[in-house]
Amino acid sequence: MAERILKYLSENSEVNTLKLAEVFKEDHQKVIGALKSIQANGDLVSAEPVSDKQIELTTEGKLVAKAGSHEANIYNAVPEAGISQAELMKLPNAKVGFSKAMSNGWVLVDKSVNPPLVKKKVAEIKDLVQDQLKLLQAGQPTGLSDKEKADYKKRKLIQESIIKSFVLRKGPDFSLTLNKLETDLTTEMLASGSWKSLKFKEYNLDALGVPPSSGFLHPLLKVRTEFRQIFLEMGFSEMPTNNYVENSFWNFDALFQPQQHPARDAHDTFFVSEPQFSHKFPEDYLQRVKTVHRKGGYGSQGYGYHWQYKETQKNLLRTHTTAVSARMLYKLAQQKEFKPTKLFSIDKVFRNETLDATHLAEFHQVEGVIADYNLTLGDLIGVFAEFFKKLGITELEFKPAYNPYTEPSMEIFCFHPGLGKWIELGNSGIFRPEMLLPMGLPRNVTVIAWGLSLERPTMIKYGFNNIRDLVGPKVDLEMIQKSPVCRLNK
Ligand code: PHE
Repeated sequence: MAERILKYLSENSEVNTLKLAEVFKEDHQKVIGALKSIQANGDLVSAEPVSDKQIELTTEGKLVAKAGSHEANIYNAVPEAGISQAELMKLPNAKVGFSKAMSNGWVLVDKSVNPPLVKKKVAEIKDLVQDQLKLLQAGQPTGLSDKEKADYKKRKLIQESIIKSFVLRKGPDFSLTLNKLETDLTTEMLASGSWKSLKFKEYNLDALGVPPSSGFLHPLLKVRTEFRQIFLEMGFSEMPTNNYVENSFWNFDALFQPQQHPARDAHDTFFVSEPQFSHKFPEDYLQRVKTVHRKGGYGSQGYGYHWQYKETQKNLLRTHTTAVSARMLYKLAQQKEFKPTKLFSIDKVFRNETLDATHLAEFHQVEGVIADYNLTLGDLIGVFAEFFKKLGITELEFKPAYNPYTEPSMEIFCFHPGLGKWIELGNSGIFRPEMLLPMGLPRNVTVIAWGLSLERPTMIKYGFNNIRDLVGPKVDLEMIQKSPVCRLNK
């Protein structure tokens, strides 16, 4: 086909592709396809796009062209003696046909008899509609006025469509045959100098390219993106969590967690040996923290134990992102004027856990913190309702819990319809005055906070029963390549 087009153009100065389709007795689309392959070989032809309006008969229009208009059929069905309207209406398309035949003055309703009869009003008719549609169908001039055209369109007998075609002319590199263009420059071409006379295919910079075979996002990262989006929608700012290594002061002491607390044991926490200790702390604040642990203050009686500097200096892999929240709240307290603040983070934490199907020694925490005047437990529950609704979770229950740094504290449970049971989502509470007041926050400021793991919702969302199928050396890399994007049913 491509070569037939080229031959035609060598004998004619220009041609429309619609005309070519007619001449070749081929589908227009096939001619366009051949044109595309000519164009892929260089500037053999120039193709100027044109669009034409064309009137076509609809299926109903074709029926009318063949069997006559509905009104003519009604007229023809009326016998000399007349016919009852009900009987007439049994014909196909009778409703339109009858009303048109009436307005054309072809038939009348004789009401002098009972029941009234439909009778012919004129002796003969000319079915102009059929004649015009026949001419249209044959592609002959019809002399249709714009009004008639609009009327036929309204009656859905004809439709207008736009046909796109091209006017072809010889191009600068016109030739009768298609030469395959070179796609690669080879050493042979360079050595022999043949590259000088060869034609090369142009780069297609719009091509989509080969999909990459690496660089896929892990399901955890996909779920993290969704969580982050929810926090951002709710007006939270992200906390900087780029310090896996923390010291005991920010991880525990600042959070009013006593130095003998079992979580501060090497059985639960990974301590860092190099460097083993931190040395820089905000001195005044450290003194206030020490005091509140030893003998209390701010209405608290403290723990009444011998607080040790050596213990607070110990470096560790942070056991929760609440250490970052503590740093941020302290920073907030140092500002001249307190401004209500909403913060979140999603990052890694480390715990010396016994590994099993649901526990890892390093996992991700999703943490939210809101500092504002006079917040209550009701606010905390309200925020949860909004936050978890955005995750598609509406049935929540709370269970009293204990954290050294929050009072009251609540574990958050949701009903999982897929698993058919209540599952724990996370932990939450209102930060204690023993934590906030030494930082320097105003007394009427309350801070509510919560934390969840990122792994649990990811396991539920992606259907994993064993956390080791999600993280670690046993992970199936193909699972990562093929896992779909995370869409929470909001
Ligand atoms: N830090 C808690 C944990 O690790 C989560 C939490 C954050 C609880 C903030 C209360 C307030 O489980």
